[in-house]
Amino acid sequence: MSIENIDSILHEERLFQPSAEFVKSASINSLENLKDLHEQAEQDYEGFWAKLGHDEISWQTPFSNVLDDSRAPHYQWFSDGKTNVSYNCLDRHLESRDNNNAIIFEGENGDIKTLTYHELYSQVCCFANAMKARGIGKGDRVVIYMPMTPEAVVAMQACARIGAIHSVVFGGFSAESLKDRIEDAGAKMLITADGGHRGGKIIELKQAADKALAGGCASIETVIVFKRTGHDVGFNPDKDIWWHDAIKDMDNNCEPEWVEAEHPLFLLYTSGSTGKPKGIQHSTAGYLLGAILTMKWVFDIKDDDIYWCTADVGWITGHTYVAYGPLAVGSTVLIYEGAPTIPDCGRFWDICERHKVSIFYTAPTAIRALMKQGDEFPAKYDLSSIRLLGTVGEPINPEAWIWYHKIIGGERCPIVDTWWQTETGAHMIAPIPGAVATKPGSCTLPLPGIMADVVDEAGNSITEANKGGFLVIKKPWPFMLRTIWGDDERYINTYWPMFDGKYYLAGDSARRDSDGYFWIMGRIDDVLNVSGHRLGTMEIESALVAHPRVAEAAVVGRPDEIKGEAIFAYVVLKGDRPEDGIDKKLTKELRTWVSEQIGPIAKPDDIRYADNLPKTRSGKIMRRLLRTIAQGHEITQDTSTLENESILQQLQGKR
Ligand code: WT7
Repeated sequence: MSIENIDSILHEERLFQPSAEFVKSASINSLENLKDLHEQAEQDYEGFWAKLGHDEISWQTPFSNVLDDSRAPHYQWFSDGKTNVSYNCLDRHLESRDNNNAIIFEGENGDIKTLTYHELYSQVCCFANAMKARGIGKGDRVVIYMPMTPEAVVAMQACARIGAIHSVVFGGFSAESLKDRIEDAGAKMLITADGGHRGGKIIELKQAADKALAGGCASIETVIVFKRTGHDVGFNPDKDIWWHDAIKDMDNNCEPEWVEAEHPLFLLYTSGSTGKPKGIQHSTAGYLLGAILTMKWVFDIKDDDIYWCTADVGWITGHTYVAYGPLAVGSTVLIYEGAPTIPDCGRFWDICERHKVSIFYTAPTAIRALMKQGDEFPAKYDLSSIRLLGTVGEPINPEAWIWYHKIIGGERCPIVDTWWQTETGAHMIAPIPGAVATKPGSCTLPLPGIMADVVDEAGNSITEANKGGFLVIKKPWPFMLRTIWGDDERYINTYWPMFDGKYYLAGDSARRDSDGYFWIMGRIDDVLNVSGHRLGTMEIESALVAHPRVAEAAVVGRPDEIKGEAIFAYVVLKGDRPEDGIDKKLTKELRTWVSEQIGPIAKPDDIRYADNLPKTRSGKIMRRLLRTIAQGHEITQDTSTLENESILQQLQGKR
């Protein structure tokens, strides 16, 4: 891996200090307090984490081992302790917060439902018992393919309660993707719904589930189907059971299964630089600690906050900051089922006003899309309940940042730009809102105990300001991934390939400015970031070449105003290239094809047909050139090493 063409083009000078008003009630309220925490971590790394582990988690058996590195890079944390995540999210709040709202739900169709901690506890227990009654126990894998409803969280919490390992598959993924994930995980149970409401339509989850099961998934014994829409779906009495029937007569108490700290809490599949998604495996205690700490440190969560993270539970953000973090700290989490544009582009702001949302966390792509609709939508609503804003998923461009700050935050709310990954489990680099001044576009500084650095190819820290390098984490941290499910080798090769296997390689390039602030510059591998979602170019290429008419494909990203990156595919057909390189019918067919293979988010925005792809003499596709062409830029790179230099003309649409 090498870092080429890393020029920093952003030169953002504006600095936004936390307001006196915010600082007054912030839990970490000065740079000095923050520095203290950093120093504690530096002076006694294990002691720092051990104290937090003891203080923040309710243990059934307290731990004495802190970090075990005997099987590095398979690090273990708190390994002789026993606890249960669902206990930490529910039971321990019952005394003090029994009647507080745990969840406020709003459906796209306007349904509103609230669940107190007591009610959520009962539902989770009841559902956990239903799963047990169907033979699910500790260590069994359960795939969850649900709309954004409280029941998705109930299902996740119920798995945690009985020690089953869940793997949530985003409802926007296709039957094919669902099947691959079920098979890789060897799941015994699938939990789905008769559909969900999104974008004014019904998402046909059950139909996709049926298709997945018809094509394989032999390990699935039971399918539990939640009735959300009430419309007709196929039903296979051999395996399917309605959610409401499954919980009938079940006890609403269920003793938590006390599991080892390292027991896998969940798998979550994410894209990498090869065709096959990786099942990122997270632990119980270390993961929980990350969720709790960052809710407190970065979101500065308080008992009376109404907290809304717009992410779907199908992504890591929906795990740590919807299903687990907010409940682990006993707060109230809002869940919205649908799209931001239904009935119009004011929906998010309408929800904020009606439910008095105080913390709002979303992706830059959503901010850009809503910003484009103009200020009249947010202007219609009273957004004064909001006190903190957050972003995640990709770098936020300063223009969108300023809009978010002014129009949504009324210039009074700090914005926490949180850098992290599916693999890191929780925020890693993010401002502590009562202590750190923000700069639009920068995720600012690493959290206490997170040894992030920017290094060169040899692993030396880059001290020169604004010089790009590899973003690494130099010490293992409790909420890191443990491995890739069923593929330890790939775990080692992907995350520890350089620097003698000592530093975690994030896969991002970054630079630090003269204040030491981190600026994420992009991926160093063949991974795209489309609307804050990670997609492997190889994955899309594999989908394309699976089409009978495609001989070869190469996929690259090109900058897109709303989505961050758009998908640009170069396709070589079996047989002749279409006349003038245009075949609208086939383009439509291929886009639909990719959507069926992976999901609508992976649909190529552009498809260009070519007789060939630019390759080196050793047969390697020169992606850099393809990126330049996709961006519509002139090629200035040296192309003399190309096997087929003449193809460039055609790729550029010149002949
Ligand atoms: C990749 C991880 C973590 C939840 C959402 C995405 C990019 C993430 C930021 C940010 C710049 C960011 C990185 C990272 N990314 N947050 N605040 N600023 N880039 O999770 O799918 O695992 O993707 O998203 O490239 O490596 P993910």
